[in-house]
Amino acid sequence: MITVPVPLPDRGYEVRIGRFEPAAVAATLLEAMGGSVSGVAVLVDGTVAARSPRVARLVAALGAGLPPGVPVRQYDLPGGEASKTLAEIARTTEWLAENGYDRRAAIVGVGGGAAGDHAGFAAAVYLRGVRFALCPTTLLAMVDASVGGKTAVDLPAGKNLVGAFHQPIAVVADLGFLETLPRREQVAGLAEVAKCGFIADPSLLDALETGGARALELAPEPLIAAAVRVKAEVVAGDEREAGRRAVLNFGHTVGHALEAASGYDLLHGEAVSLGMVAALSLGTSYGVTPAALRDRGRALLAGLGLPVDVERRLTTEVLGRIDVDKKRRGSSVRFVFCTAPGATRFQEIPLDELRTRLQPP
Ligand SMILES: NC(=O)c1ccc[n+]([C@@H]2O[C@H](COP(=O)([O-])OP(=O)(O)OC[C@H]3O[C@@H](n4cnc5c(N)ncnc54)[C@H](O)[C@@H]3O)[C@@H](O)[C@H]2O)c1
Ligand SMILES: [Zn+2]
Repeated sequence: MITVPVPLPDRGYEVRIGRFEPAAVAATLLEAMGGSVSGVAVLVDGTVAARSPRVARLVAALGAGLPPGVPVRQYDLPGGEASKTLAEIARTTEWLAENGYDRRAAIVGVGGGAAGDHAGFAAAVYLRGVRFALCPTTLLAMVDASVGGKTAVDLPAGKNLVGAFHQPIAVVADLGFLETLPRREQVAGLAEVAKCGFIADPSLLDALETGGARALELAPEPLIAAAVRVKAEVVAGDEREAGRRAVLNFGHTVGHALEAASGYDLLHGEAVSLGMVAALSLGTSYGVTPAALRDRGRALLAGLGLPVDVERRLTTEVLGRIDVDKKRRGSSVRFVFCTAPGATRFQEIPLDELRTRLQPP
């Protein structure tokens, strides 16, 4: 078991990573809630609830650990992104109200980044805010979505357009959940781990290079913990996304455009892999990313089983989508470049120039 602290002023919390018995997960969650909790609502990704026996055991263990009369109930969400709508938030919060959850209640989100975002946003708005904890069940949620306190749901107009900052009181990443996670989702999660390597921790790049497609099986705890540490450090230094936190967007400017243009056929991590390849190449064309690092990055991502063939995917439609990216400032983009393993640099690039550089005429 590895514990990574997320040192925020007033509301720091810990991320625990390991293979746990449900009773141990429950004990950690209950300790974080303290003695005053009036009820626990476990909001679970419905697919995870159906596939993983760990969910029922966790709910039972929470019940066993709570004082008599303090209820714990499970509420199944639609699987994956389908839970991230305002309609689902309305359903969940009405269910909370019908079941009498008050301000001293706590929510536990169990699932991938989608269920975590749903649970966190429901916790942020129900009764103007109740406490919540997360049990991430995808690699992406363990290394990325569960850390940082951003919560959001989607609108028809776009992803993550309605949300709030709300920090969890605890995060427990039980590696046992990864057993039922489809291989493609596991590999996609590795893209965010690689991102942490490029922007802050070169040892992660070494580990991914050595382990290749087996990197996660070989050393899941240290790998996940190192990525969580990177995100925790960046977030702790910039809780509300004023500046430094933008390094986490490495690979995301082009990645988001590819993801949206694919109609979300590409998984987020796959799109980010392609976006990182584009960012490395672009960096080389500006003379800020060494060609050797560009080539190494591409080979490393391919070795993990991630897509890297970005050039043929940079269609006019994809390039057009870059301009709807949230991080756009006027007619230019604040682009994150990797200048050496673990090191970054920001550069404002006019949109037209960015498009031309990405897809030379
Ligand atoms: N809040 C943040 O800071 C943040 C950061 C990154 C991503 N996100 C959000 O996270 C979401 C993506 O997260 P994700 O990649 O975890 O996807 P996801 O939550 O949609 O899960 C992917 C799929 O795997 C299934 N699943 C989850 N865990 C499983 C398990 N253990 N076994 C079997 N199936 C399982 C889900 O039902 C879903 O179908 C997006 O909505 C994104 O916006 C949020
Ligand atoms: Zn991402």
